[in-house]
Amino acid sequence: MVKYENVEISYGKFVAIENLNLDIKEGEFFTFLGPSGCGKTTSLRALVGFLTPSKGKVFVGDRDVTHLPVEKRNIGMVFQSYALFPTMTVYENIAFGMKVKKCSKNAIDKKIHEVSEKIKITNEQLKKNVSELSGGQQQRVALARAIVLEPKILCLDEPLSNLDAKLRIDMRKELKRLQKDLGITTLYVTHDQEEALTLSDRIAVFNNGYVEQVGTPNEIYNESKSEFVCDFIGDINRLGRNCLMEINRQLNTDFDLKKTGFIRIERCSSENKTGRAKITGQVEDLEFNGIFTKYTLSCCGEIIKYLHTNDGNFLRHEGEFMDLYIAPEDIMQF
Ligand SMILES: Nc1ncnc2c1ncn2[C@@H]1O[C@H](COP(=O)(O)OP(=O)(O)OP(=O)(O)O)[C@@H](O)[C@H]1O
Ligand SMILES: [Mg+2]
Repeated sequence: MVKYENVEISYGKFVAIENLNLDIKEGEFFTFLGPSGCGKTTSLRALVGFLTPSKGKVFVGDRDVTHLPVEKRNIGMVFQSYALFPTMTVYENIAFGMKVKKCSKNAIDKKIHEVSEKIKITNEQLKKNVSELSGGQQQRVALARAIVLEPKILCLDEPLSNLDAKLRIDMRKELKRLQKDLGITTLYVTHDQEEALTLSDRIAVFNNGYVEQVGTPNEIYNESKSEFVCDFIGDINRLGRNCLMEINRQLNTDFDLKKTGFIRIERCSSENKTGRAKITGQVEDLEFNGIFTKYTLSCCGEIIKYLHTNDGNFLRHEGEFMDLYIAPEDIMQF
């Protein structure tokens, strides 16, 4: 449905995107994930048409849209800042694009009510000025404004980043529901790994103008292809020479001592099962979180974090010792 083919995007002499190749399927919820400045917005803008690549091509379906003007691409876009018209009512904001397209008053009215119902914008709110709405409500208006035009593709650039934590999670669920309902191919930009994992069919992890890995949330998390991906997505422990040497000694494994070993913090266990290495640690710090306790342990002179799910009776205090068990298949080296 959307294809980036050997795309390079430059700002003057600065090459922001080096050689982007992506193939996004119809109906897919596809996320660009990565730290600030890695080129997510730049890549999205080249699809919408606000930027023209210095090399390569962008396709929508079979059509080469690389040089097609924005208004001919039929792509909806929601900006991080919403970019609503502050002096207009909610209704006028949502109607704007349809008016530009010279749709009839009746058609506009019908469509606005249909979409508002889907996105949960009330009739009361439609009459209000956008400046009278909360962040979450404005976010809905921005979404409605894009959707009334029935785009083939929806591009969302960090649409939830202005909202508080609780509202973000609520809106995340609604966004997913809406996307499923409409079946619309969606490109989503975020630097929030949890958002990416929960929403996406597939994720492209960006690093400094490159895509490091493309995969399902499960693949990205459990089969990270590089240290960058592994570290960026989720919480990770770094096993240094001392821990790896101990693991090699106990299990007869041959982890490379010159490289770091990575293990997800939730994979370190206090359960002794066959095939696991025992590493003893001393509690340096603990954080009680209700559902779990996060321990920081000193093991063989290295720091290892351990999550203990709260079972009501297990508790170690600072300075006490505990045993951790590590399975070799959970250790990643790159
Ligand atoms: N208009 C511009 N002129 C020059 N350089 C730019 C321009 N816009 C972005 N850049 C540079 O291109 C790179 C990628 O920027 P981009 O906005 O795509 O990052 P991003 O991944 O969206 O980051 P963020 O998460 O902070 O929004 C950055 O190094 C940035 O400084
Ligand atoms: Mg951006």
